[in-house]
Amino acid sequence: MKILYATSEAVPFCKTGGLADVAGSLPPALAAEGAEIAVVLPLYRRIKERFGDQLYFECYDYVDLAWRHSYCGLFSLQKDGVTWYFLDNEQYFDRSELYGYMDDGERFAFFSRAVVRMLGHLKFWPEVIHCNDWQTALVPIYLKDDGVREERLRTVRTVLTIHNIEYQGRYNPYILGDLFGLDSGWAKDGTLLMDGDVNLLKGAILCADAVTAVSPTYANELKMAYFAHRLEGIISKCEYKLSGVLNGIDMKLYDPETDPRIAVNFSPRDMTGKDEDKAVLQRMLGLRQEPHTPIVAIVSRLVSHKGLDLICEVLHDMMELPIQLVVLGKGDRKYEEFFHWAAQQHSGRMAVRLDYNEDLSMAIYAGADLFLMPSKSEPCGLSQMIAMRYGTVPIVRETGGLKDTVQPYESWRDSGNGFTFTNYASGDMLYVIREAVYLYKDYPDVFGRLRQRAMQCDFSWARSAREYLGIYAGITGRHWPVAG
Ligand code: GLC
Repeated sequence: MKILYATSEAVPFCKTGGLADVAGSLPPALAAEGAEIAVVLPLYRRIKERFGDQLYFECYDYVDLAWRHSYCGLFSLQKDGVTWYFLDNEQYFDRSELYGYMDDGERFAFFSRAVVRMLGHLKFWPEVIHCNDWQTALVPIYLKDDGVREERLRTVRTVLTIHNIEYQGRYNPYILGDLFGLDSGWAKDGTLLMDGDVNLLKGAILCADAVTAVSPTYANELKMAYFAHRLEGIISKCEYKLSGVLNGIDMKLYDPETDPRIAVNFSPRDMTGKDEDKAVLQRMLGLRQEPHTPIVAIVSRLVSHKGLDLICEVLHDMMELPIQLVVLGKGDRKYEEFFHWAAQQHSGRMAVRLDYNEDLSMAIYAGADLFLMPSKSEPCGLSQMIAMRYGTVPIVRETGGLKDTVQPYESWRDSGNGFTFTNYASGDMLYVIREAVYLYKDYPDVFGRLRQRAMQCDFSWARSAREYLGIYAGITGRHWPVAG
């Protein structure tokens, strides 16, 4: 099967969030399952700077977007059994950041248009284009638009994966023709219009042949107003083509036994290294050297949907427990200020780093005991899986992928791999934190077994890759041998 995966970010080339991790590891997993796969990304400045000498120039062409006629270069690189393509246009992508510009709508309209335009220059004609979030949402729309004229575009099927429905790509309908090069019929028939705006994600949900969410629970939640940011009606209407496929993590990259980024390696069979990592973390962050005090960690963007209000509400009650608290992340100023202030009140027991720092995050996953993630909504969440892999037991709210990856500890049958609570309520969160802390302090053997179960979970990509292949097969009418 021939698949083109279109994304606005992918590890190791460029990253702002979880989409990049997924786009970096799902395509190689699909290739390992026998699919022919290419990925296409914008050629941002940072990719040119870091990978420029490895890029092979394939060709160039011109892309028409409304009245614009713009250059588009095609570069490629081979890695992990996947062909990575980069689309070049300096006006749009030779910039220091990936997003956050006034003309993001135009930039990603260009990118989506260019993906369709350049298909004939790729090493294969794809049977499926797999799009991700609003940045590539125009691809299924353009295919329907141009497919009316060009026969072979009609053969291409599309999948849209929703990583976070909050970001929809909403624009003034006035610019439909001028910016996106689409005629007013697209708005008149309602496909693109939503609450008076052009809504690219809505259009893609309607036009794609299959829609996926990044966990089964999130797929269900998207039918509810609380989670769907006004798209619940459209999602419900498209339920027949919606499924939830849980993300995985790169089990080789995130392996405490071999990871060179952590101070001392360890494994489920020999956990002594983790004690040393804890001592290293305490030293590094100026925490007291207390081997028997559980370290609770938060590694997160500091934004509201991560559930930080719950933590702010009961932080001082939390700090009455015999714990140390570590916070790493940056984001909204109100949370940054709160954590900064709280750390001063609890010096030696609480450390805060308002930063995005991959190395420090690995030291935390390796050295902490409990990982707190009380998200209000969480499409999938990757950090709880990484934490579990490094023996840091998660405490999560039962939403989205958190619910699908963390099973609550049950004392009566010694089962589960973490701690969970249901309601978005700080009292409920505090209750399970207390349960976790006292299990750690009073029943180290039981906690040790719980930790082992967390470490032994299989979050590898192979399982999800097979599910995606099943979806591709379903929409292309192709038979795909589903292994195992
Ligand atoms: C988004 C979601 C996150 C998910 C990631 C990858 O960042 O917020 O929950 O894990 O996408 O799909």
